[in-house]
Amino acid sequence: MTPLWKTLPSASQGTPFAPDAHHDVIVVGAGLTGLSTAVMLAREGRDVAVVEAGAIAELASGGNTGKLSVLQGDRLSRIRRHHPASLVRAYVDANRAGMRWLTSFADEAGVPYLRRTDHSYAASTDGMDALQRVHDAAREAGLPVRMLAAGDLSTSPFPAAGAVALDDQVTIDPVRVAQALVGELLAAGGTLHTGVRVIGTHALPHPRIQTAAGSLFADHVVLATGTPTIDRGLYFAKVRGMRSYCVSFRVPGRLPEATFISIDGQTRSIRPVSDSDGPAGTAQLVVGGSGHPVGRSDGEKAAVEDLIEWTTRFFPGAEETHRWSAQDYESHNLIPFVGAMPRSLGRIRFATGYAKWGLSNAPAAALRLTAEILGTPRHERSRWMTTIGTRLTVPADLGRGAIEGAKVAAELASGWRDAESTSVPVARPSEGHGVVANTSGRPVGVSTVDGVTRAVDAVCTHLGGVLDWNDAECTWDCPLHASRFAPDGTRIEGPAVRDLKSRPHHGGQ
Ligand SMILES: Cc1cc2nc3c(=O)[nH]c(=O)nc-3n(C[C@H](O)[C@H](O)[C@H](O)COP(=O)(O)OP(=O)(O)OC[C@H]3O[C@@H](n4cnc5c(N)ncnc54)[C@H](O)[C@@H]3O)c2cc1C
Ligand code: FES
Repeated sequence: MTPLWKTLPSASQGTPFAPDAHHDVIVVGAGLTGLSTAVMLAREGRDVAVVEAGAIAELASGGNTGKLSVLQGDRLSRIRRHHPASLVRAYVDANRAGMRWLTSFADEAGVPYLRRTDHSYAASTDGMDALQRVHDAAREAGLPVRMLAAGDLSTSPFPAAGAVALDDQVTIDPVRVAQALVGELLAAGGTLHTGVRVIGTHALPHPRIQTAAGSLFADHVVLATGTPTIDRGLYFAKVRGMRSYCVSFRVPGRLPEATFISIDGQTRSIRPVSDSDGPAGTAQLVVGGSGHPVGRSDGEKAAVEDLIEWTTRFFPGAEETHRWSAQDYESHNLIPFVGAMPRSLGRIRFATGYAKWGLSNAPAAALRLTAEILGTPRHERSRWMTTIGTRLTVPADLGRGAIEGAKVAAELASGWRDAESTSVPVARPSEGHGVVANTSGRPVGVSTVDGVTRAVDAVCTHLGGVLDWNDAECTWDCPLHASRFAPDGTRIEGPAVRDLKSRPHHGGQ
């Protein structure tokens, strides 16, 4: 599954790893959060090293739909339902600041993008009350949104009972942005290590990260790893990992000129792509959606097929060119977590919880992290930073956290119970399938991919969740806190930092 944005191989831009080197700041993760933080700090003269387990924009930053919008589906009304208007306004101001930073970076770096009208739409009349709330929350937060009735959308190829529209939002190729950020970082003398996984992060006695190739030291460490890879502050349990799917299509006839995301029913995110906001020579349609909590779906492949069925129904003749998937994290209080890890003496910082709106939230987080690391006095920081930084936890935050905690506990229990029901040896799974069985009371995952049958310990190396087979991507996914592993046990993402152990496979044919 390769994103449309990754059609061309990226030039290898890594720097050789020098164990025990010291930098002013180490940023872990070369996604949009890590790279924009690194560039902001490098512009202020700091010596920054970015350490990335995979390649540039390896995960969500390279696998999104490339919409930079402050409207964000029904996000604003969802936040407003539980928080005061001042916090929604601060969230919007943060995202506007993030959008301004990213577009002015793109202007300077020559990354093309387009201004388009973004729409949050109701697919049926049942969604009209929710749509009104989206409109009201956006207006209250100072956005010049317009309400459109079904008649205004009569040329829409897909059913829409109404929509909230916001002009002047942006579509951009996220991988081109990430590569341009790397270009500026390296030109400023920064360091980038790709293919180096961080397996430990320490605040004392000196801030340090640990990798299989050795340690690196710094005055500050920023964990820009999607969800934090250390358990301090239990942030892995305060966010929920949501996996979603995208498919790109060649479509006969005219593409829509605007972007859309549904706010009722199954999510459908619609994004036209041209070579002014995507890879050169492209004229396609990206459709995203069918999301679910990581590791808690029985039909990942069916989710992709559902997107394809929907698209070919409303865009007859659409031909699939690429399909891909990625995950992002939603915080229980609906506002991203950005700042210092508890008990780290302000030496380890992190950012997570953008709920699939990271193109503006990531640079906004980077602006905050940079201000904190540079020690910018509070009265000189933007007001939104102070408002968001001093928000209180409200009862609904605790409620959502408790519900998610209960689901995690249920997944933990059912995973072990289900594994008990099948004993090794198991029959060799057919191509693309995986099964969890038990051997001497320990879950083992057996899968067949590309003709190779492998067995691994099916217990997540983070906190012991029993893994679930993802039949769309052929991975082992953890239903507890969203770690993922390849069929051979190699860790892909999530709070786990270690691989699964291989097990012998004694199954039959
Ligand atoms: C399907 C989908 C569609 C989306 N569409 C949009 C959209 O249209 N608009 C929008 O605004 N947002 C969108 N988003 C959200 C957006 O993509 C994310 O919020 C954003 O990319 C997060 O950036 P990040 O840098 O924080 O995390 P990531 O991009 O996940 O980067 C984290 C990086 O850290 C690295 N890493 C992790 N652990 C380690 C370790 N131990 N050692 C070293 N490196 C490590 C990873 O390899 C990765 O490269 C979408 C998300 C998804 C899933
Ligand atoms: S990610 Fe926490 S137990 Fe798997």
